[in-house]
Amino acid sequence: MKSFSDKISIRKPDDMHVHLRQGEILKVCAPESAKWFERALVMPNTNPPINNRERLISYKKEIEEAISYHENKTFTPLMSFKLYPEMKEEDVIKLSEAGAIAGKLYPEGSTTNSEDGIKSWEQIKEALSAMSKLGIVLSIHGEKPDSFVLEREKDYLPELFKIIEHYPDLKIVLEHISSADGINAVITGPANLGATITVHHLLITLDDLIGQGIDPHNFCKPVVKTPKDREAIKNAVLSGNRKFFFGSDSAPHLESAKLKAGGSAGIFSVPAAIPLLVSFFEKNGSQELLENFISKYGAEFYKLPLNKSSITLERKENKIPGKFLDIIPFMAGFFI
Ligand code: NCD
Ligand code: ZN
Repeated sequence: MKSFSDKISIRKPDDMHVHLRQGEILKVCAPESAKWFERALVMPNTNPPINNRERLISYKKEIEEAISYHENKTFTPLMSFKLYPEMKEEDVIKLSEAGAIAGKLYPEGSTTNSEDGIKSWEQIKEALSAMSKLGIVLSIHGEKPDSFVLEREKDYLPELFKIIEHYPDLKIVLEHISSADGINAVITGPANLGATITVHHLLITLDDLIGQGIDPHNFCKPVVKTPKDREAIKNAVLSGNRKFFFGSDSAPHLESAKLKAGGSAGIFSVPAAIPLLVSFFEKNGSQELLENFISKYGAEFYKLPLNKSSITLERKENKIPGKFLDIIPFMAGFFI
């Protein structure tokens, strides 16, 4: 099997799904994203949510401000907004004019800050047809919240197919895909249906969450699943299918919020993601697919120009820090 040379230069990657948060957490997490990525699609489940033009503009400024003091200033936040029941076409138009490229559908109660989410696609008909007309991507947290936790993604698929049926031209991304059923739906679905894949869903299973002691730092929504599900995700990535592209779903929470009963879902994966992906592709002898997965397919799906800058990755022992502020990253303390 051919391995990577000790130093590789590739087109700078995009992270097509990230939570950068606000305030002090943002100040730590945004520079970390800027270190690895040229662009990132920033999720809108802040508090208050990014659901109108003014908030989108001021959140983008807050992110730009957070990276302005750091060396990787070329980082561009790509903006999304949160869909809410009975959202009007004119609100979508204003958000689009302000630069939003995606609208996020959170089923009510599915994850962090989704209490104000959507019960049925029928509540957002006007917004969906506006998005379809304007070419704004529908980004979906595809879980049915009242189903059994391992079946939530599978049970959301009928709702997804209703949306596809009613809005055949709408571009849709099934985010942080986590199950063999989800993968199969995307493979067999129409060309304008894609999916983001995280590094944790690609590498770990329920065993890493509850197999020995419980490890809250491996807890996220959708929850990591069975070896069979992980295998389907791995095969999707290694097939080189351009419907599947990288989105870290890096979702930092303070240690105090994670280490308690009812602790928060979310894995802060940005610091470890690229080294882990490089080693994943190398182990699987598919180094030619690395750049497509992290730097091309996402941009192509969103019809964005490909990044011109590059990143140089050197083979050296890379120790993931134990903590950023009071946030424990994915694989903290590990050498990758
Ligand atoms: C995310 C968060 O904390 O914002 N959590 C997570 O477990 N992934 C929200 C989300 O994408 O589900
Ligand atoms: Zn997310």
